[in-house]
Amino acid sequence: MRKPIIAGNWKMNNTIVEGQALVSDILNRELNESVEAVICVPFTFLQTASKMVDGNKIKLGAQNMHWEEKGAYTGEISPLMLNELNVEYVIIGHSERRQYFNETDKTVNMKTISALSHNITPIVCVGESLQERENDSYKELIEDQVRKAFEGISTEDAKKTVIAYEPIWAIGTGRTASSEQAEEICQLIRNVLTSLYDEKTAQAIRILYGGSVKPENIKELMAMENIDGALVGGASLKADDFVQLINY
Ligand code: PGA
Repeated sequence: MRKPIIAGNWKMNNTIVEGQALVSDILNRELNESVEAVICVPFTFLQTASKMVDGNKIKLGAQNMHWEEKGAYTGEISPLMLNELNVEYVIIGHSERRQYFNETDKTVNMKTISALSHNITPIVCVGESLQERENDSYKELIEDQVRKAFEGISTEDAKKTVIAYEPIWAIGTGRTASSEQAEEICQLIRNVLTSLYDEKTAQAIRILYGGSVKPENIKELMAMENIDGALVGGASLKADDFVQLINY
């Protein structure tokens, strides 16, 4: 009943020319229609991408946004600007943004609220560092990240939100969490959502896993009860790999 999502996070990769080649390569192939395929591309490529994927089999996402609609926020991009470009998804609070750009649980919450009120589906990222995993504080940390991200969000809006569990130690490292490790945390997240809302709401929310997802491990991850898709970095930059993930 939860439609799976395979979302590519291009990060700071691909010029417009490179992006065009990659998107047309993906669009030329047969894609599993029972999966929601999303590409989260750099801001500079959104306009071109929105023309290429318009009404097509791939949906468009951004990698960040500001919570305000406009104002003196040099260098930022607003939800209204994303609305104009048919952006349907936005990644919020990716660990790289938390780590390098001072993203906090508070800004994650403000951005999530803003995205929802502008009809953009937020993909809210949570996840622990290697140190937090090793000192065994990761469960409390993730519970805290989820609670703070959903502060002030109604049941109706919560159902539209997507969560991505991405252990930092598994991102770009080739070291995937085992499907059992990933499932353990995705289930924990669903339990937190049940306590914040109710069972029915928690069952409706899609929870993705991210961190070195590739064609070789996607099947095993997707077989897990509480994993509803993947947020994919490196493997989303190659048409062959990305299409294999969509067609898992
Ligand atoms: P990766 O990145 O697939 O390259 O590990 C995942 C992410 O950061 O979203």
